[in-house]
Amino acid sequence: MRKKRDAWKSRIGIIMAVAGSAVGLGNFLRFPVQAAQNGGGAFMIPYFISLLLLGIPLMWIEWTVGRFGGGFGHGTAPGIFHTMWEKNRFIKYFGVIGIFGPLVIFIYYNYIASWTLAYAFFSATGKYGLVAGQEGMLTLLRGFQGVEKNSFFSSLQYAYLFFLITFVINIFIIYKGISGGIEKLCKIAMPTLFIFGIIIAIRVLTLGTPDPTKPGWNILNGLGFLWNPDFSALKDAKVWLAAAGQIFFTLSVGIGVILTYASYLKKTDDVVLNGLTAASANEFAEIILGSSIIIPAAYVFFGPHQIQNIAAGGAFNLGFVTMPLIFQKIALSAFFGCLWFTLLFLAGITSSVSLAQPSIAFLEDEFNISKKKAVIIFGIVSFILCQPAIFFLKHGVVNELDFWGGTFCLVIFATVETILFGWIFGIEKAWEEIHHGADLKIPHIYKFIIKYITPLFLFCILGFWFYQHGIPTILMKGVSQADKPYVLGIRVLLVAMLITLAIMVKIAWRKRAIIKTKE
Ligand code: ALA
Repeated sequence: MRKKRDAWKSRIGIIMAVAGSAVGLGNFLRFPVQAAQNGGGAFMIPYFISLLLLGIPLMWIEWTVGRFGGGFGHGTAPGIFHTMWEKNRFIKYFGVIGIFGPLVIFIYYNYIASWTLAYAFFSATGKYGLVAGQEGMLTLLRGFQGVEKNSFFSSLQYAYLFFLITFVINIFIIYKGISGGIEKLCKIAMPTLFIFGIIIAIRVLTLGTPDPTKPGWNILNGLGFLWNPDFSALKDAKVWLAAAGQIFFTLSVGIGVILTYASYLKKTDDVVLNGLTAASANEFAEIILGSSIIIPAAYVFFGPHQIQNIAAGGAFNLGFVTMPLIFQKIALSAFFGCLWFTLLFLAGITSSVSLAQPSIAFLEDEFNISKKKAVIIFGIVSFILCQPAIFFLKHGVVNELDFWGGTFCLVIFATVETILFGWIFGIEKAWEEIHHGADLKIPHIYKFIIKYITPLFLFCILGFWFYQHGIPTILMKGVSQADKPYVLGIRVLLVAMLITLAIMVKIAWRKRAIIKTKE
């Protein structure tokens, strides 16, 4: 007999959970760096266009197909896609990406989230309080990550300890289930995160001009750096790719997690307003909070020239090197440092539990096993899979995982589900399905957008990507000779994961067919 599936307890619970999945390290670390590296204001125009033409439609598509599949007892893409296109024997295998992608992100994201917990601890205990300059702070970070042995850290033991703590918290929450774990966590963590974010943003926005000899280094110019439009950069396909990529990552669309969360809804639950509310909460965290903290603060303390170098150094340097340096310079530095890293940790953990859930749902729904068993299997397998990101970080393993799990798979998965929804399932049926129990009517233009514009946009992104980055990436251009074996090793691991998942789908469907014939 099939088990009864878990369910959300309240409407605010599912909204907080989806917002929790969306609001993550991407909002506070990835977004400012992407925006700064891609011309500030120039980035924001494609960003908003991508939000309207990709992000919002995909959000609605995923909420709808998730709820639809949940009605048939499927919480992950293989089962959901199969229910939407029963005649096709292969579509369930495309659905594997919706479990594979989040699992791949989980195995490095969880480790990065654990750094934020460690740094919250370091802030409270004054570990980095007296470290001088970018160079010193970078040395501390590299020592902590095990990239080098230095006077701050002689081994990975601290990083590993915080990884273990974060991993156990994740497993505990998913073991507690949808309403007892994820919903409860997000209902507390999300309001806390927003309050922390607002406090830090207010502090940054009231910084004024800390150095009177440099009146231009002020907060208004800092905001201007991000928001003054530069239309010339719009002609650059790279900026469009970056903006669309950020929309996917930040909203958690194209990953597979919203499908799973929505599968625990009832058929009569609204998806239109709920989806929009969760997306709006994410955009508030990204555009209002995310853009008011790192870049303006760095501008005020380091000026317009250095900020370019800082942004070029990437998200980790900005979050773990520049921000601690900034906190050193303001009053109550330990307090603000602790607030910042706790905010990042809450953002990270509410996202990482969502990345784990598709694997759990897949095991529970398609193999009819208990949650306890599913969590144990997931715990063991994902723990092993996390190790390369920890031990081979310096060899580019996290970048490689992020590329396939956090960029490539998202666009492929989104393309498949959009075509499936608008063309195979059929836009008329899809439109009716979206509006089941809806508290809001979607403007009619979105029927056209979902059917034509979103898939076209996705094809263009795929085409541009392949032309600009695809072949060099596949051929490992820019990867050093020493790192190549590691990058190759990760690729072999990823292929093995994909094949294993596909075989599991085959076994699950065969079992299902046998049960059906017996009945
Ligand atoms: N949406 C999550 C983030 O932005 C994955 O970090």
